[in-house]
Amino acid sequence: MLEKKIFIKTFGCQMNEYDSNRIYDSVSKLGFIKTENQSSADCYILNTCHIRDKAKEKVYHEIGRVKKLYKNKEKPIMVIAGCVAQAENEEMLKRDPYIDIILGPQSYHKINDLLKKHITDLKQEETEFDTISKFGYFDNIKNKNNKISSFLTIQEGCDKFCHFCVVPFTRGPEYSRPFHNIIAEAEQLIKNGAKEITLLGQNVNAYSYLENSKEYKLSHLINDLNQYSELDRIRYTTSHPRDMTDDLIDCYASSKKLMPFVHLPIQSGSDRMLKLMNRKHTVDDYLNVYEKLKKINKEIEFSSDFIIGYPGETQKDFEETLELIKKIKFINSFSFIFSPRPGTKASKLQMIEKNITKERLTIIQDKLFNNQKEINKSKENQLVNVLVENKIEKQNKFFGRNEYITPVIFEGSESQIGKIIKVKIQSSNQNTLFGHANNKMKAA
Ligand code: SAM
Ligand code: SF4
Ligand code: F3S
Repeated sequence: MLEKKIFIKTFGCQMNEYDSNRIYDSVSKLGFIKTENQSSADCYILNTCHIRDKAKEKVYHEIGRVKKLYKNKEKPIMVIAGCVAQAENEEMLKRDPYIDIILGPQSYHKINDLLKKHITDLKQEETEFDTISKFGYFDNIKNKNNKISSFLTIQEGCDKFCHFCVVPFTRGPEYSRPFHNIIAEAEQLIKNGAKEITLLGQNVNAYSYLENSKEYKLSHLINDLNQYSELDRIRYTTSHPRDMTDDLIDCYASSKKLMPFVHLPIQSGSDRMLKLMNRKHTVDDYLNVYEKLKKINKEIEFSSDFIIGYPGETQKDFEETLELIKKIKFINSFSFIFSPRPGTKASKLQMIEKNITKERLTIIQDKLFNNQKEINKSKENQLVNVLVENKIEKQNKFFGRNEYITPVIFEGSESQIGKIIKVKIQSSNQNTLFGHANNKMKAA
């Protein structure tokens, strides 16, 4: 049997990144090895995202690119995975026969069987599991990811049905993985060298697992992981304001490893808009969480997502969003123009004028980006704590992140990889801090 190579191109959120790694773990049992060379693979997977814009068109565009790459070579087995695959399904096979396999996020445990149907000379699997669920299958396969900063999906799907969002349709209803399986996977990642674990879910703070009448929540996972001495940092994303319960907020007092950074999307600063969006929280609910957390530790910083130009958004609503960003100086933020998604309630609503939306986006991004630049500028000449992740190829520099997930590029040494060190910041831009390792000082 010849060695088979697999290439996965990943779009979208961190959950897709986690999934792509788990797919690698699964296909390696068939003898596939991961390649970084996208033009010489036996199997090419596009792991897609459906959240905004012309997601479907982007996928066909990508397939067109792959066709060109393999024009004079044997065609790879073409797999479309991810949220577009879930939403479009068999339709895609009909539209483009170049596609061999369509695989939605709930079906990744079937990948090996599907590949075996297309390639006959694959290695025999040592173990085959007769499981009907994705997580049941993957719990039996080692997570081989060996990154210093690793993702770990604990919850999938969403029951909230915000009127703009396609996730409940592509990822299905909320499902929380068994508590002890998550801890076992975290132990595996720590053994592989992880120093930071980010717990993932579309609504990660809605995590709830019942066992022997005890409810395990995200706070239990954080407090449990906090005890692993080899693990330095814990993060979680993405959370919903309504599920920021007091037990989770208390973790910021009880766990030193939980980073003082909360990504908490609000979408709009207007209660009227939040209601129209079916967000199930108000601006005050959000501010309440903000104040509670600041009381525990004033160093805690927030980042958020905003949707601009949602149907019905008036100038007054928009100004209320601007007011909110004056109250909370977000350390980081993502702002998107509303994009109607097929099947969602908001897709049937009257869109507001394009030029108004664009103007609003420019205004809000100016302000948000200025905040970011100012915050980063304030770090210049300061020492920041950086978890060193890797060397940057060709640059002889190193990459890591501070507590607030801001990328830091610095002069350092190989021996610092995997450690938390102090970096003296010399310059900055909107997204990144630049500096050099301060060898005399050890990080706190
Ligand atoms: N579960 C998270 C929450 O409730 O905040 C968000 C998950 S979603 C993957 C990430 C972000 O994409 C959302 O917070 C929202 O700002 C943005 N988004 C989702 N649907 C969108 C749409 N139809 N148009 C524009 N932005 C959208
Ligand atoms: Fe989408 Fe809303 Fe669910 Fe977040 S909470 S995934 S925005 S439906
Ligand atoms: Fe995109 Fe699906 Fe994630 S739509 S943002 S890949 S959950």
